[in-house]
Amino acid sequence: MNQKSILITGGAGFIGSHLVKFFLDHYSYKIVTLDLLTYAGNLENLEGYLDHPNHIFVKGSIGDEQTLNTIFKEHLTSDVIHLAAESHVDRSISNPIAFVETNVLGTVTLLNVAKNHWGKDSGHRFHHVSTDEVYGSLGNEGLFHETTAYDPRSPYSASKASSDHFVSAYHHTYGLDIVISNCSNNYGSHQFPEKLIPLMINNICEKKPLPVYGEGVNVRDWLWVKDHVSAIDVIFHKGKIGETYNIGGNEERRNIDLVHELCEVMDELLNRKPGSSKQLITFVKDRAGHDLRYAIDARKIKAELGWEPSISFKKGLKATAKWYLENKDWLSRIVNGEYKSYYESHYKS
Ligand code: NAD
Ligand code: TYD
Repeated sequence: MNQKSILITGGAGFIGSHLVKFFLDHYSYKIVTLDLLTYAGNLENLEGYLDHPNHIFVKGSIGDEQTLNTIFKEHLTSDVIHLAAESHVDRSISNPIAFVETNVLGTVTLLNVAKNHWGKDSGHRFHHVSTDEVYGSLGNEGLFHETTAYDPRSPYSASKASSDHFVSAYHHTYGLDIVISNCSNNYGSHQFPEKLIPLMINNICEKKPLPVYGEGVNVRDWLWVKDHVSAIDVIFHKGKIGETYNIGGNEERRNIDLVHELCEVMDELLNRKPGSSKQLITFVKDRAGHDLRYAIDARKIKAELGWEPSISFKKGLKATAKWYLENKDWLSRIVNGEYKSYYESHYKS
């Protein structure tokens, strides 16, 4: 059998870079990473892997049909794992159009190219990496199941819901072999410091205010990014065509409780007086339309594919905080914008 040639989109981002590195470490597949290197894309996330013999990095957009056609032709793309997206809810509130362009139009462009190259029931797989936010918001009780009706409420989740629907539509209409995974909030190393945990870590280090939206009572379920990658690995290889799998950490936290936990970890790691970071907490204006609670029923992936998270949130949070402290340069190059010049320095020298 020919070597698989997998196109991974968004591979310079947070989750994508963990996935690319995992696949290069564990398989002999050819991996083609396509990433536009928007503000969220950081080639430094792939440091040590850019010159890997099985890896090709292409700077380009999922919305650019010509680039996609060239990749599919030149690299005989056998499968796609699609992560490229605009991913931050706050940005979707201030600029929804970018989310429609990338997450909806970009995904449909990619689906169309895959369909045209592969045809019907080809055995080539299109795995769409999506979010639990498509299901909307829960009250104090209940969980999101794979059968829960979609009810997106932010421009981000509406764009991801729309892209999920297009992925399903390409399966039903054109026979494209698809799987969809809907995952809860990820945390871990290499996450862009606009998201809750790395933003708080950065601000604690710099003794800046810690902005907690509203009263901090919103609940998220947290999953270590490497556990998300191991879930994608089993779904990509063994998930049933046409199916959806929910992925969760079974680690629900109110934002304020999470920030307290993180403050305690950081005080310990930074040798600061216990309680000092908590004093930086500042309650700020709530996010518009802020979803109250997300929580996942992950029984299907456990029963069918044997997947479970490998570490607790307590352990993962401490490991994450340590990583950011040991990689302060990574963080400061983002904060001062220097990370943007990595592409030129690596490829143009
Ligand atoms: P991220 O913002 O860190 O990375 C997104 C990547 O996509 C960046 O490298 C960016 O440069 C790239 N990109 C953006 N537009 C592009 C385009 N037009 N063409 C090519 N590349 C483009 O996001 P992330 O947190 O790693 O999330 C990855 C995927 O996982 C997204 O689809 C997101 O919806 C989904 N997801 C994320 C989480 C989470 O907690 N972060 C949870 C569930 C699902
Ligand atoms: P975020 O990391 O943006 O992920 P998402 O909105 O996709 O769940 O936010 C996680 C939670 O933390 C969410 O309820 C909003 C809240 N939050 C804050 O309270 N302060 C912040 O500065 C940020 C970025 C988020």
